[in-house]
Amino acid sequence: MQITETSESLREQLADWRQSGEHIALVPTMGNLHDGHLSLVEIARQHAERVVVSIFVNPMQFGDGEDFAAYPKTLELDKRRLKRANVDLLFVPNLETMYPFGIDNATSVTVPVLTDELCGSFRPGHFDGVTSVVSRLFSLVQPDVAIFGEKDFQQLMVIRRLVKDLSLPVEIIAGATRREDDELALSSRNQYLTEEERAIAPQLYATLKKIGEGLQSGKRNYTKMEQQAMNDLEALGFKPDYVSIRRAENLGEPDRDTDELVVLVAAHLGKSRLIDNLVVHI
Ligand code: PAJ
Repeated sequence: MQITETSESLREQLADWRQSGEHIALVPTMGNLHDGHLSLVEIARQHAERVVVSIFVNPMQFGDGEDFAAYPKTLELDKRRLKRANVDLLFVPNLETMYPFGIDNATSVTVPVLTDELCGSFRPGHFDGVTSVVSRLFSLVQPDVAIFGEKDFQQLMVIRRLVKDLSLPVEIIAGATRREDDELALSSRNQYLTEEERAIAPQLYATLKKIGEGLQSGKRNYTKMEQQAMNDLEALGFKPDYVSIRRAENLGEPDRDTDELVVLVAAHLGKSRLIDNLVVHI
């Protein structure tokens, strides 16, 4: 596995592969890799001869008072895992490579409307940070395909919108959410949980499944179901930001005839802010 830190060495290597007619898949990450990230690498393998993973903890997508400084960094371990997963190239840019004019002067890419709600309304500026960094990664790597996890459902939708709106020549592929045995979605932020909180955490997904069952049994009172789930989570010790039932297709408000729904949740538990979602076909 090659490891490059600069855009020049990245470009040289990619040019060689392209000249041999090889396709390139990109898996963007912030490191501290778990099996969820590695499942995206496996998907990438199925779509291209060459797999590039990027690790960059992007300051632009963290708000004041969020966990940028504390975000877990495990680069040596990550390198070993990626090598074992047969990744061809690991791109680990520094701040200057990603933001040559500095964060405060950086060109920003915004996907409007879709980013104003759900996580966007609780983390102002977050998705601008994501779309700005992902645009940079796309332009540095120029991948044929890029893989994103359904775990971050709104992020996936925002990236799809970005690509479509700007006609970016990259195919976006979604990877299913990987979970622990007790169904807690894998996340770097699970590490902030105490033992007691870790025991409660699977209730987040259990709450989504309860709503899913309700929807499948014909319940359509979305607002009531969302409110009930918020109350349940609070009673369990979470501080929920939202529970929301949306159209899976575009995160719009569903009507009674929508047959593909997604239930999304974000909730604080101790120091962690956990998110999860469940797609429900009815
Ligand atoms: P990060 O949180 O490191 O996640 C990198 C990718 O892994 C994202 O596409 C995310 O959806 C996916 N992922 C996370 N947990 C997963 C799980 N349990 N199962 C499957 N996939 C999972 O998301 C980001 O980084 C950043 O916002 C980034 C896109 C890299 C831009 O900075």
